[in-house]
Amino acid sequence: MMKKKVLGLVISNRKLGNSEILLKEIMKSIPEECDCELIRLTELKIEPCTACYVCLQEGKECKLTDDFNYVFNKIKQADALLIGVPIYLLGPHGYYKMLTDRVLGSVKLAESTAGKPCILVIPFGIKGWEGYTRAAVQVLPRLMQMKLIDCWQVEATLPAESLLQAGNLEYAQSLGKSLFKADAYQPGIRECPFCGSDLFRLGTDRRIECPICGSEGFLQDDNIPLWPDPEQSRFTAANLEEHFNGWLKEMKHKFHEEKAQLKEVQRPYRDDDWWVKP
Ligand SMILES: Cc1cc2nc3c(=O)[nH]c(=O)nc-3n(C[C@H](O)[C@H](O)[C@H](O)COP(=O)(O)O)c2cc1C
Repeated sequence: MMKKKVLGLVISNRKLGNSEILLKEIMKSIPEECDCELIRLTELKIEPCTACYVCLQEGKECKLTDDFNYVFNKIKQADALLIGVPIYLLGPHGYYKMLTDRVLGSVKLAESTAGKPCILVIPFGIKGWEGYTRAAVQVLPRLMQMKLIDCWQVEATLPAESLLQAGNLEYAQSLGKSLFKADAYQPGIRECPFCGSDLFRLGTDRRIECPICGSEGFLQDDNIPLWPDPEQSRFTAANLEEHFNGWLKEMKHKFHEEKAQLKEVQRPYRDDDWWVKP
């Protein structure tokens, strides 16, 4: 039988830091023999998206000649994805967002990734400085329609410190042991039940909105949110299809139709060449 492939993305430059050793511990604990591969994303070249939208077209890859397509194809081929991403200045490490921005062709990627297990491991240095991370990290696995097994925020400042804390070694091992048989992570009652975000936009009359998946709910008398309609989440397969294959492609047509008019708007700014570079 073919061995399953497990890919670990380490989004930290720190060698043998918390992201790296926790991912390795999870990998070592998988009961069946797997092909394990690690990519330290911060060592690769991931350039900013140029907004050309080529990746939305059938059979077309991103045109940028950096390492993105390599990572994209590795993610596609993997049977499970582990991501270790530390908190930097109240959010996930910037490379996580760089990668997420490049996954515009996510509906195509989801043909390979949907339903496959994904674990997020998120080391952070100090309680109260987690910021918006938990909300922000949901986007990538949800776009890929993966089965998010856990979104583990681990308090640890120093490299490897996470494994000095009681219980963390065992927890990492339990994640590895159940990687291919665990149910999807169940968000708590104070998290968005559809995407797991723990941040909400406050409206009038007790209404709240999840800024990540766009679902709308309201706060009940006990302050526990109620979310009536799961189909509102932008991350359902149907809503993602409608956004990326419907709305975005329509925008591309609109752009071609209105190109001349848009160029006219740009014209007075064309010669304002105040750019500087080091
Ligand atoms: C530039 C930088 C910014 C950081 N910002 C935060 C932060 O906002 N909140 C926090 O809890 N920890 C913060 N940390 C601490 C790291 O999240 C923590 O050391 C973590 O264990 C690093 O994971 P690693 O060992 O996998 O690199 C920061 C660390 C660095 C280097």
